[in-house]
Amino acid sequence: MEKVGENVVKIFIDGIGDVYFNLQKYSTTISEEHKFIYYFDAEGRFMGGFFDGVSYRRGLDNRLMKKFFDKDGSKVKIFVGDEEKRKVIEDVIERVLKIRDALSGNEHEVLERLDEILKWDYKQLEKDGIKFFSVYKPISILPPDQYFSLVLQPAEGCSWNKCTFCSFYQDRRFRVKSPDEFLNHVKKVKEFFGRAIGLRKSIFLGDANALIIPQKRLVELIKIIHDEFPIGKSKNGFDHVFDGIYSFLDIFGAERKSYDEYVELRDLLLKRIYIGLETGDANLFKYLNKPGSPDGCVEVVQTIKSAGINVGVIILAGAGGKKFYEAHVKNTVETILKMPLGNGDIVYLSPLVLDEADEYVRIMNELGSETLDKFEMAKQIQKIKEGLKGLNKLGVRVTLYDIQEFIY
Ligand SMILES: C[S@@+](CC[C@H](N)C(=O)[O-])C[C@H]1O[C@@H](n2cnc3c(N)ncnc32)[C@H](O)[C@@H]1O
Ligand code: SF4
Repeated sequence: MEKVGENVVKIFIDGIGDVYFNLQKYSTTISEEHKFIYYFDAEGRFMGGFFDGVSYRRGLDNRLMKKFFDKDGSKVKIFVGDEEKRKVIEDVIERVLKIRDALSGNEHEVLERLDEILKWDYKQLEKDGIKFFSVYKPISILPPDQYFSLVLQPAEGCSWNKCTFCSFYQDRRFRVKSPDEFLNHVKKVKEFFGRAIGLRKSIFLGDANALIIPQKRLVELIKIIHDEFPIGKSKNGFDHVFDGIYSFLDIFGAERKSYDEYVELRDLLLKRIYIGLETGDANLFKYLNKPGSPDGCVEVVQTIKSAGINVGVIILAGAGGKKFYEAHVKNTVETILKMPLGNGDIVYLSPLVLDEADEYVRIMNELGSETLDKFEMAKQIQKIKEGLKGLNKLGVRVTLYDIQEFIY
């Protein structure tokens, strides 16, 4: 056994070659000759891997996402079927078993990790995926910088649920949990994650617009979070600290909160609010059937920022198709530039996915607007980024938000 880096050891194993073990506090990564790489959380659950140019991510609900580049260089992201999922997971477990059997017995820390991993077989991981749904409603989407947050659901669903392009929460009714029910949910979340909770860096309030919860109840629910988790400071029983609280909010919901209420939320360590502007073009905005308006979005961002909370503003790339192409680019760039964005703010560009956007497709057909192809989409994203390039100097990140890559 050779130490080759902080927390990384290398062991030569006959029939495999050099195997690297990256023993992080809350995760273990095993790399066979840097060709087969797979990783696990602190409870030993398989989380994902890279195998010969194909990458896999296992969600806590036991779905498995596969990503690879096809012949023309496009990135493909799909959820694999049960058969392939079982094959991939069982192959990984077999590999770990083979490595475990080949070790001499002196590699104590490595052995401990492998034994933790080998507590799980495919059936148990499948069961764990079912257990996930006794704790959570499906986690439909998160902003990319929050993929490794700890999601808590003080509310379920979307209070509006009628945007023509969005189908994320159509499977559930909007409802807010009572303090007792929420505390129970939090306890179940803790139990579900176990030690793997240490991998989570922030708290994300689900679902689509949790901050719309009336302020008094919202504060009550956030105080439960502070009682139960170390946020911004350490707490007994935890050996890590969450950096803050994050949430989505729609424009209309954001307009209903006052400056003082945002200040109260900032003091409760709410760090960033993610708002879907989608487009700065008021005409196109109407066809999206979002509540509020682009000007309203500028105003709420001003209020939120002046209260000391960062924002993540989401733009729907490709919205409106060819008919709105120029207006969408021009007015979106202008609208974003009216916002007082700075360090810690993010502008996300989410390429429009039409799979379940039936109402949006119907409206665009009626208007005779064709969908952008992938080259036109890439060009539009480039143009919007170009228009916003001055923001980079201010510390604002302008980056992609691909809803098809999301898995929790
Ligand atoms: C939970 S919502 C945003 C927060 C809040 N509910 C709102 O509407 O402002 C997440 C984001 O996903 C994106 N989204 C929804 N449906 C989409 C689709 N069909 N294609 C691409 N992006 C989509 C939108 O940009 C939306 O702002
Ligand atoms: S875009 Fe936001 S407000 Fe509109 S339906 Fe989706 S989650 Fe709800």
